[in-house]
Amino acid sequence: MCGIAGYIGERNAPEILFDMLKRLEYRGYDSAGVAYFAHGRILVSKDRGKVNDIRKNLNLGRESKLGIAHTRWATHGEPSRENSHPHSDCNSQFTIAHNGIIENYKELREGLIERKHRFLSETDTEVIPHLIEEFYSGNFESAFVKAVKKLRGSFAIVAISKSNPDMILLARKESPLIIGLGDGENFIASDTPAVLPETRRIIILDDLEYGIVKKNSVTIKDLETGDEIKKEIREIEWDIEEAEKEGYEHFMLKEIFEEPNAVRNALNGINKTEEIAGKLKNFNRIYFVACGTASYAALVAKYLLERFGIPSEAIVGSEFRYSTVNSLGSDCAVIAISQSGETADTIASVKEARKKLAYVTSVVNVVGSSLTRISDDVIYTYSGPEIAVASTKAYLGQLVSLTLLCLSLAREKGNINEQYMNEILDDLHKIPDKIRQVLDNEGEIKKLAEKLKDKKIFFYIGRRLNYPTALEGALKIKEISYVHAEAYPAGELKHGPLALLEEGVPVIAISPNDDLKEKMESNVQEARARNATIIMVGEDGDLRVPVCDPLLSPILYIVPLHLLAYYISTAKGLDPDKPRNLAKSVTVE
Ligand code: M6R
Repeated sequence: MCGIAGYIGERNAPEILFDMLKRLEYRGYDSAGVAYFAHGRILVSKDRGKVNDIRKNLNLGRESKLGIAHTRWATHGEPSRENSHPHSDCNSQFTIAHNGIIENYKELREGLIERKHRFLSETDTEVIPHLIEEFYSGNFESAFVKAVKKLRGSFAIVAISKSNPDMILLARKESPLIIGLGDGENFIASDTPAVLPETRRIIILDDLEYGIVKKNSVTIKDLETGDEIKKEIREIEWDIEEAEKEGYEHFMLKEIFEEPNAVRNALNGINKTEEIAGKLKNFNRIYFVACGTASYAALVAKYLLERFGIPSEAIVGSEFRYSTVNSLGSDCAVIAISQSGETADTIASVKEARKKLAYVTSVVNVVGSSLTRISDDVIYTYSGPEIAVASTKAYLGQLVSLTLLCLSLAREKGNINEQYMNEILDDLHKIPDKIRQVLDNEGEIKKLAEKLKDKKIFFYIGRRLNYPTALEGALKIKEISYVHAEAYPAGELKHGPLALLEEGVPVIAISPNDDLKEKMESNVQEARARNATIIMVGEDGDLRVPVCDPLLSPILYIVPLHLLAYYISTAKGLDPDKPRNLAKSVTVE
């Protein structure tokens, strides 16, 4: 995710563009920049940091009526001034901003370097202005279209040329782009909230369309045929906050619905996980360290490795840093997991581990965050910005990255047969569609939440890989509904907590179709005998999930529990995005 913006009209473009960027910052916030036409040149101002900080430090000029801008969520290349957008060609004639991922950028870049193009960044994006330069022979639109046709992957692009200060070109494939229609001025943005204070009339660009935006006209064409397309003009009735949530009532719900994509994005990291597994096989002891939700992903990883006969430990950061660390040495590998990469206890654990000469790799969502800078290696989950305090899609990203890592390590050690490995990988690629099926069942889950909303205590039980699922389900409900929730390994119920069960206490039993299903059924009977209200999560459960390999069940089985927690919170009239007493990143001890 990144946010892009464009303006053409009679007002001061950079000022307007920064206002638009501020409203797009939820899409990315590690660096920002603006490019505008003034005095016959395109001037570019950009840097690492948040939009407001950059705006303060930049000389924005006051005489430009045309410009483009970008707020970045790093994918290729760490957050830095060089990697910030906009990017230009060798002669600063063409400047562009891009959201998406250009999959074939390496081969394009190599070809362009052979033709003497000079690159200044590590980004995939920078190939685009150089391609336009390569194809340019006097017609900006034609060079732009030829360049865009060379790209594989996803993109929303805005481009300006110093020879054509009366137009902005734009194109889209799988990344959002809209045009806000003004009076003698037009606006371009990744998303509607950016233009809402200026206009409520918008055109939504569809995949494989491109456009020519001038101050008094907008023309949209088919990228393949070049034919002009008549587009519908929509009147937007949402307010800005509603628009940022893309019509979802809360960020948390939006992020739960982004879980299929979080899985897809993490799957793209398979080469990196294979590379790290190659290193991990040389260490005698493996430790996973993390906090909160990320620590449950760590626990899943530990169970996965155990499945393949590889010992490891999963420890929360606040304990690891003061205890586990004492037993570390250079034969240890530490895998630190964090959405933000800024969690104080996880960072301190890694710093202590490094003092003991342990090897550290981190599994992180936020590119360039503190944790990534102190780790030997990094696996990015690429889940996109997570705004809601309660972590949801980032957890799925972590689970997928760790599953890939554990499977690769098992293969490195010769502990998994190739056919089984391929079967699981195949099934893993089907998980996004299966998650979608769970999300389609939203209505049923909402009804169940209504029934449960006044319960004072919840029990979540699971075994092995799904004990962490129970922990995560319980944490979610605690965080956003403020009710007591206990998570137990199902076999432990009888060792104490059973005393708390009485009529109507909800027991949510996570029961995949595996070799422990019958054992789980016995544990459920123990609770049923105390008249507890049993809610089974399984293939034929009350919360239904599609069939999947039991090893992948933590990824799929948590989805209905995320939705359940969300709907219990809203049924209680609470705001799940802003739970009391909590912060998104816990940067203090
Ligand atoms: O950014 P991190 O993944 O390091 O954050 C760790 C925890 O603070 C975080 O998962 C927290 O538990 C969430 N609020 C859970 O929803």
